Amino acid sequence: MKIQLSSVDIVNTRTDCLIIGINEKAEQSATVRKIEKATNRLVEGILDSGDFNGRPGSAIVIPKPQGINAKRLLLVGIGDKPDADDFAAAASAAARELCKTRSISAVSTLPEVSVSGLDNKSKARIVVQAIHNARYRFIQLKTMKGKARKDAQCSLARVSLQSGNIRNEPLLKEGIREGNAIGNGVALAKRLSDLPGNLCTPSFLAGEAKKLVRTHGLKVQVLDEAKMKALKMGALLSVSRGSREPAKLITMEYQGGKRGQAPVVLIGKGLTFDAGGISLKPAGAMDEMKYDMCGGASVFGALTAAAELKLKLNVVGIVPSSENLPDGAANKPGDVVTSMSGKTIEILNTDAEGRLILCDAITYAERYSPSAVIDIATLTGACVVALGNPATGLFSTDDQLANELLECGENARDRAWRMPVWKEYQKQLNTPFADMANIGGRTAGAVTAACFLARFTESMKWAHLDIAGTAWQSGANKGATGRPVSLLTRFLINRASD
Ligand code: BES
Ligand code: MN
Ligand code: ZN
Repeated sequence: MKIQLSSVDIVNTRTDCLIIGINEKAEQSATVRKIEKATNRLVEGILDSGDFNGRPGSAIVIPKPQGINAKRLLLVGIGDKPDADDFAAAASAAARELCKTRSISAVSTLPEVSVSGLDNKSKARIVVQAIHNARYRFIQLKTMKGKARKDAQCSLARVSLQSGNIRNEPLLKEGIREGNAIGNGVALAKRLSDLPGNLCTPSFLAGEAKKLVRTHGLKVQVLDEAKMKALKMGALLSVSRGSREPAKLITMEYQGGKRGQAPVVLIGKGLTFDAGGISLKPAGAMDEMKYDMCGGASVFGALTAAAELKLKLNVVGIVPSSENLPDGAANKPGDVVTSMSGKTIEILNTDAEGRLILCDAITYAERYSPSAVIDIATLTGACVVALGNPATGLFSTDDQLANELLECGENARDRAWRMPVWKEYQKQLNTPFADMANIGGRTAGAVTAACFLARFTESMKWAHLDIAGTAWQSGANKGATGRPVSLLTRFLINRASD
């Protein structure tokens, strides 16, 4: 799909769909006034009818509008004095309605809307990301053909964003560029995440990573179990022992910065199916544990976005990937394993496997002498209880890094909320039988999981993002969200311009 800048005469432009923002109150923009004049007050008529009220998120498609050349006119409510939330709501509603039509081309005038707190670059980025989001479908495993298949897809091929004013163009262009890169990164993360566990195995993910050598110029290395054994990754390997699918440790490097510049390391949990192991999970909604690799998928998304933007920064992505299944060879409660760091871990619950694969990946990351390490994981159900779906849990032992990530989340509209990693919680991991247990009891489960990881990060600037509540949606609209690719990419963009 192509998204570009335009400055066309909106009354005469031939497009499948013309999108305009409508104020909830009567005060309409110059663009709307032009349309009103050409259409003999079409918009006023619609507002009077009550079918459409101009509130943020409301939208209506008018087919064959008389007086203008567009085949459809899509009115989108922007409310009254729109803020960033209103604008984002309008951008998503517009993209959603647009994809419901069979339009192939569209012209959006939404970037002309003035929004308090948003510059032209942000507006363009929000509009472009909304279009990528609305276009995403996961129909590759459905067998329907011909028209049915076409109808299930979004037909959109070209969108022009109307600049309104030549002075806005440089920032709008930059916003389109970022929006496209982030939109593609989010879509890649979603596509990998929505795949079922029988197709998306550790080996499959490793194969997908290798494709990024050619498509994105990344350097990719995949360690097999023999190599991991040589590195003494006893925690990671203890998890994959219970599965017939061999574990893979995937590393992807994007080198946009100076040679020798310390990289940002992103580590993503790539558990392609989590049945819990011997501490088996209950059956309800267990299918959703195919999403236990969403952290890994977000690393794919952020690295490809960085490469597409040609960021002047070095970034390393590490994805430890395994299944967690019950088996005769699987971890048993009470087993003690030795991690790559040399620290011993008593496995009191085999379902707390994420931290076991992550701790070895974190130790492995030391060899890159990173400027910062951020791990991303669907780590705990407790984080979902604490924060629900709106916020990713942010844990860090470095205030500066934590604040940086919080701000990126706000800016990218992909928010995180900070949780403690205080020493007081560490004692919940004590055990008489090893250096630590892999669970910390009933209370503060998301915090004790982070505390466990913190024990392997002493030498680093480290942050942990628990995305258990944000990486996918359940219910009728079940599907991956692609979070936190937007947050991570914003972080990389900021680091590259420092
Ligand atoms: N992948 C799960 C966490 C999870 C559960 C994410 C539900 C999203 C929804 C993780 O491996 C896990 O099972 N964690 C356990 C930890 C517990 C045994 C301490 C959990 O949260 O129940
Ligand atoms: Mn688990
Ligand atoms: Zn898990």
